[in-house]
Amino acid sequence: MPIEQTETTVTITSPSNPNTKVSVLLYGASITSWTIDSVEQLWLSSAAKLDGSKPVRGGIPLVFPVFGKSSAEGFEDLPQHGFARNSTWEFLGQTKENPLTVQFGLGPEAANPDVYSKWDKGDNDFTLIFTVELKDDSLKTSIEVSNTDTKPWKFNWLFHTYLKIDDIDDTLVNNLPGEKCYDQLLKETYEEKAPAVDFNGELDRIYQNVDTSKLLQVIELGKVVHNVERENLPDVVVWNPWDKKSAGMADFEPKDGWHNMVCIEPGHVHDFVTLKPGESWTGAQTIYKGDSIKLQSI
Ligand code: BG6
Repeated sequence: MPIEQTETTVTITSPSNPNTKVSVLLYGASITSWTIDSVEQLWLSSAAKLDGSKPVRGGIPLVFPVFGKSSAEGFEDLPQHGFARNSTWEFLGQTKENPLTVQFGLGPEAANPDVYSKWDKGDNDFTLIFTVELKDDSLKTSIEVSNTDTKPWKFNWLFHTYLKIDDIDDTLVNNLPGEKCYDQLLKETYEEKAPAVDFNGELDRIYQNVDTSKLLQVIELGKVVHNVERENLPDVVVWNPWDKKSAGMADFEPKDGWHNMVCIEPGHVHDFVTLKPGESWTGAQTIYKGDSIKLQSI
């Protein structure tokens, strides 16, 4: 069966390989697992809550309508990363057979009321359509945000992708030199000077307005392990919590799991996107394996 649905989860399986599949939890429309030929591509905490009591720690949580915390008017009361990741989405069904594609939807009626009510006055009318497309060697996730209201409103979007790796000590992320970066730990903006991003401690950076022609590659011991392509998502958050920060997160297990993950998070977060009534906005990421190292300078 290419599509299996339980009360909580939708799993789609490649028609050509029963071991290539993706699982989406309706809570948050969070992707919790993506395997290519039985090999897991995403990191998921073994203590992640999958019962709707907390956003999922790992996989691909969806961040809307705010990234992090914001003091901007209408956003100041929203909790970190908004309400998309802690609302239960509706499964809309299959939209394509080849590549296998399914969709999920969220609107104000199903949005987590405690959090949704804190976005502006809690009366922004919106529709989110989340599309998941599975190929034998890639996963594409796309979002369409529509303003179904009679007034304009604004938002951030981000795919909070936790990629699985063997060891962060051996990992680099390329194609970011020369890019403007806001370091969330130093609280400073600077130009990235390193030829590749390497990891020696907690790292939490927002690379801003990175041309979407730039491929982001996660390289381990000289080998490309993940490629991330973006459409209409100019910003890239790179995050690894390292030992102390993950020790403080109750749902982060095993405690040394930070060795095995790196978050490469494509989004639109350096400013808000404004949508007028009737307007829509789309963004997408595609993750695929392998490939040779491609160096793209600024
Ligand atoms: C990242 C942020 O996107 O998400 C980090 O850059 C944050 O600052 C991390 O710590 C995890 O956030 P949360 O809310 O899932 O613990």
